[in-house]
Amino acid sequence: MPFVTTTEAGVPIQGPTATLLYDDWYPALRTDRLRPNRLTTAMLLDIPLVLGRRSDGRVFAMRDSCPHRGIPLSVGWFDGEHVTCRYHGWEFEPCGGQCALIPSLSSYDHLDATRIFATAYPCEERDGHAWVFIPSPGTGKKGRSAERAVPELVKFGPRYRTAFLTADLPCNVDHGIIGLMDPAHGPFVHQAWWWRTRSSIRQKTKRFEPIAEGFRMSAHAPSGNSAPYKLLGVYGEPIETTIDFTLPNRRTEVIRCGEKWFSSLTTVTPVTSSTCRIDVIAAWNVFYHVPLVTPIAKFFGAKFVRQDQVTMIQQAQGLRHNPSLMLIDDADKPAKWYFALKQARLDSAATGAAPRHPMDGPVDLHWRS
Ligand code: FES
Ligand SMILES: [Fe+2]
Repeated sequence: MPFVTTTEAGVPIQGPTATLLYDDWYPALRTDRLRPNRLTTAMLLDIPLVLGRRSDGRVFAMRDSCPHRGIPLSVGWFDGEHVTCRYHGWEFEPCGGQCALIPSLSSYDHLDATRIFATAYPCEERDGHAWVFIPSPGTGKKGRSAERAVPELVKFGPRYRTAFLTADLPCNVDHGIIGLMDPAHGPFVHQAWWWRTRSSIRQKTKRFEPIAEGFRMSAHAPSGNSAPYKLLGVYGEPIETTIDFTLPNRRTEVIRCGEKWFSSLTTVTPVTSSTCRIDVIAAWNVFYHVPLVTPIAKFFGAKFVRQDQVTMIQQAQGLRHNPSLMLIDDADKPAKWYFALKQARLDSAATGAAPRHPMDGPVDLHWRS
């Protein structure tokens, strides 16, 4: 369930909302939650979804609403091929949404059931996520799904370990994303003996360059003051890390050290216009043969995400009262680029012109963290 902030009486309080970016792929849920002949619900961009896996293996995502009278399709039945509505038994093929049967039609009816469609969204499975393409309202079922590749975690070989983490955040997607790319909170939110301490703050310079609908922290040797990076140093080769942010919500990080690599894809997905969810998927071949590395990595990763989550729960308390906020240079520059990139995509969707990138070229940012 998405997090909501509540009053002491338990009444949900909706925090400030964010403008949503449609026409893109978002992770709806982990596909290991899909059971044979079962329907599972999820929420994306304020849209209730029903998901499942057909008996041929394909995953699907439909709007959780029957086109006849609007009852949730998720309360109906699924036999591996068709979703049957609980109210009047209409049957739908779930990948395309086409109606296959209306049981009440008699020989006197001329209605062609196959001309009726429930809303089915493009849905693809990658890295254990069910990615769903949410078109702009009113642009048809598939929108521009073919123009945008389904996101996927980069891997550099066939043998690797993986881990997945998730946390609901009670703030809107904009706060979730700028929290994700904020370099200055690390020493305060993520201080721990195994990661770093507040006294390890030092001045840093990082080069950023524009990439399509995003920006890249250029390949650099990772900061020497965080322990996991130091661990990679045991391989004795130079370590290089690259961090990209791209619209609508993706941060990818790749760390390479000779033949060894670590790769992660973090997304902050709007569940509703005032709440979001962070998902992290990671793959690595570092310490491939060392036992217990996966549970240990998951344990520390979960702590890290939990620290961000706790901070955002606290922040949501403050945001309930709609305070005015500020973004400062240079530590908040990536957040400014995010807002500019987002606005550029919204403008481009409205005018049809190519989106204007807020960066002219590479730029160095300086901060202490
Ligand atoms: S409401 Fe679904 S078949 Fe009538
Ligand atoms: Fe963080």
